[in-house]
Amino acid sequence: MPHIIFCGTSEEELDRRAADWLVERMAKPRAVVGLATGSSPLGLYRELVRRHQAGEISFKDVRAFNLDEYVGLSPDHPMSYAYYMKEHLYGHVDIDPVNTYIPNGAVQDPKEEALRYDTLLSTHGPIDAQILGIGTNGHIGFNEPGTDFSTRTHVVELTEETRQSNARFFSSIDEVPTEAITVGIANILESKEILLIARGANKAEALRRAFLEPPTSDVPASALQSHPNVTVVVDDEAGKLLKAQ
Ligand code: F6R
Repeated sequence: MPHIIFCGTSEEELDRRAADWLVERMAKPRAVVGLATGSSPLGLYRELVRRHQAGEISFKDVRAFNLDEYVGLSPDHPMSYAYYMKEHLYGHVDIDPVNTYIPNGAVQDPKEEALRYDTLLSTHGPIDAQILGIGTNGHIGFNEPGTDFSTRTHVVELTEETRQSNARFFSSIDEVPTEAITVGIANILESKEILLIARGANKAEALRRAFLEPPTSDVPASALQSHPNVTVVVDDEAGKLLKAQ
């Protein structure tokens, strides 16, 4: 079992605990962090920005790699993950933009871009501290159910469930891209330490399947069972089926 931090009903507590975890690991010289997008880490980024503005932390010496990006969206598209990172974190802290990495979704050849990104990760990695969210279908990054645990950075076709889940960020489901570039499960497992953030009742079943049932490619997050250093930070709702153990 991973180390689980239960945060009750306090979202602030969850954000604080996630920030404490990451800040501790960012203290290492030239730390390499892996970052996620979506709603789960938003409070973490808010807390990091607050601590930076209070003069408590600096990102000057940090290199950051994102997990994934939609194919077809340029970095200045408001729904791109590059834009999200600028809006929620990079635009408010002292990280050097040359030290921020994210797949480019607007390239002619996404497969070649996936290869380029994978090489970058190998050159700069391993990642010291990887932040993850989890999809309601158990995906991590955009590694959808059925993805082999040995996959590296690749182009994926998004499942209907993932497109539906993410439609809340777009004005309609038709605008949600159908493909993404994502680091693979093998890349994620190479990280030295992993923090998975989950909030809300709709994540409870995915977490149960990920950690309380035998690993299977049907639940990509279950690959994390083979990693020696995973922490899961949850609120009451998301953690309710793990707590029963
Ligand atoms: C985002 C990512 C995804 C999300 C997952 C959960 O970079 O890799 O795996 O972490 O879809 O999304 P939210 O947090 O919006 O529920």
